[in-house]
Amino acid sequence: MNELIKTLINKNKSFLPIWFMRQAGRYLPEFRKIRLQNKNFINLCLNSDLSSEITLQPIQRFDLDAAIIFSDILMVPYGLNQNVVFKKNLGPILSNFNSEVFLKVKNEEFTKKLSPVYEAIKKTRVKLNEKKALISFIGSPWTLVVYMLGLKQDKNSLNIDLFNKRKDEITLIFNSINNFLCLHIDNQIKAGANVIQIFDSWAGLIPHKFLNEYCFEPNKKIVDHCRNKKIPTICFPKGIKKNYYDFYKIVKPDGLSIDYDLDPEWARVKLEGCCIQGGLDPKILLEGNQKMFKEAEKYLKIFKNYPYIFNLGHGLLPNTDPINVEKLIKFVRDYTK
Ligand code: CP3
Repeated sequence: MNELIKTLINKNKSFLPIWFMRQAGRYLPEFRKIRLQNKNFINLCLNSDLSSEITLQPIQRFDLDAAIIFSDILMVPYGLNQNVVFKKNLGPILSNFNSEVFLKVKNEEFTKKLSPVYEAIKKTRVKLNEKKALISFIGSPWTLVVYMLGLKQDKNSLNIDLFNKRKDEITLIFNSINNFLCLHIDNQIKAGANVIQIFDSWAGLIPHKFLNEYCFEPNKKIVDHCRNKKIPTICFPKGIKKNYYDFYKIVKPDGLSIDYDLDPEWARVKLEGCCIQGGLDPKILLEGNQKMFKEAEKYLKIFKNYPYIFNLGHGLLPNTDPINVEKLIKFVRDYTK
């Protein structure tokens, strides 16, 4: 059993696994080179040789314990025949949601459309040292709905009018998407993935009275599905603040990724029994050196003798210097020797 899985399932404390959200891509010059030659991001995700190569790039550079497959949470809406394009500086743009098109998609068609993702996992598993975990991921139903229906009104807030107006479509998507998310997970496990991370990046936008319906229950269904397959899960309900407590009690994932807004001392006490991942603000990697080491040490001290996975409170930022990633890993390894 590899170290990350031992920490997640057995709550092992004797080794501190390290990996980083968004470790594959954006900030790495070797990724940027490939990206320049591949203008269409979806097609890049569908090129199994290149996505496997990109997945392995951070592993070749750094002393990490896990690879995360180079893909995107929006590959699922793409597999459900919604058009997805990535525009520079604008982020993802999805075509208008069409419920007739959405409801017609069959499992076989979905699997076929996303088969290069599964191919990339197979190719990566063969090349990846067996001591390292291969993490696959999905976006949670809510976070996908935010993109599929365009529910944000600016970078960080929910368009409440639209949220109220589109309730029927939200319900329609929630009723059907779990089937495809579980299918996507099963296909990824069959291809060789051995940990699943569920990104609920926009959970913090859910109005409080809907948290159970749109966050806890849908995450729980997916966690239970993975547990039946004996595959550990890490949930990341970003931005839900102290509702992390109810999330943990209801969803019971193997691991909980905490964001940089959550007080790690609070998390250690209130989420006792769950493996905790991350927390460190990715902005600190832009500072480097003493400031970065000091912040990292804070997390290492708090989670000493606790089943902890070293990671960040969100993904590595595009303007991170890879040297700082290397220095941070060395600092953590030396500290925990
Ligand atoms: O973690 C990894 O390195 C593996 C690959 C990965 C990507 N996206 C590649 C990517 C993963 C795990 C994701 C998850 C993802 N995608 C999330 C959840 C995590 C989070 O950040 O909250 C979300 C919300 C998305 C949707 C998405 N994809 C957005 C909003 C954007 C544009 C802005 C951005 O983050 O870069 C993407 C594009 C994207 N996904 C890039 C990469 C490497 C950048 C593509 C480019 O080069 O233009």
